[in-house]
Amino acid sequence: MENNLANDLWKHFFVTPKKNYNKYMLQLLEYPECIIYDKKIMDENRSKWSEQFKNNNDICLEIGSGSGNFIKELAFRNKDKNYICLELRFKRLILSVKKIKKNESTNVRFLRRRGEEIENFLGMDEISDIYINFPDPWEENERNRIIKESFFVSLDVILKKGGKIFFKSDHDKYYNDILQLVEKLDNYQVVYHTPDLHNSPLKDINIKTEFEQLFLCKHNKNINYIEINKVK
Ligand SMILES: C[S@@+](CC[C@H](N)C(=O)[O-])C[C@H]1O[C@@H](n2cnc3c(N)ncnc32)[C@H](O)[C@@H]1O
Repeated sequence: MENNLANDLWKHFFVTPKKNYNKYMLQLLEYPECIIYDKKIMDENRSKWSEQFKNNNDICLEIGSGSGNFIKELAFRNKDKNYICLELRFKRLILSVKKIKKNESTNVRFLRRRGEEIENFLGMDEISDIYINFPDPWEENERNRIIKESFFVSLDVILKKGGKIFFKSDHDKYYNDILQLVEKLDNYQVVYHTPDLHNSPLKDINIKTEFEQLFLCKHNKNINYIEINKVK
């Protein structure tokens, strides 16, 4: 059974088998209680994630959770909330789950799934808040960005009224583009924004992500921050 799972694992990620696989891909099998890589299982959980967490606590979403420093701390601070994290890279998923386990947090699930596909596996009003930290700005190809007008159409479905979107980025243009985009949307409102999070009133409660640490230490870059409310 174990062997079959390992032999068939590639089918979830590739069209044809490869000669060698990333060693972290196989490690996905070691954490069935925390990592879900099977799209069918994710889609079956649509509107039923509370059953997966075995409670009725709010469910929040992080898109592009990286190596998990942010969610490790957020989930530890908020044990009365559940978190679904989307990440594509095998190594980052494994590093994240190890951090969560070390903290003995049971309120996090990692899904290997693209943020663009949320409507397939999240139901109406299923999500309370969304965190997107340092998403790829796609400088040469901005239409590939995760945060664009069509993303808000998905949020119209999955995000509860009163739910918030929290965004952080080193990329000044992405920050300004989002501020402009939200101005055009009548059901979303920017409730707070700053181009310099680390010199703002939020600096003491802010949880630094891996990329944030990097931009601060290596490049001494200002960090942009936006909080958006879904008003109706
Ligand atoms: C620049 S990193 C930021 C990671 C982390 N949030 C941080 O701040 O340190 C972006 C992350 O998003 C993941 N990612 C990229 N495109 C994605 C997508 N469409 N859906 C979900 N995750 C994605 C990448 O694998 C990567 O780990």
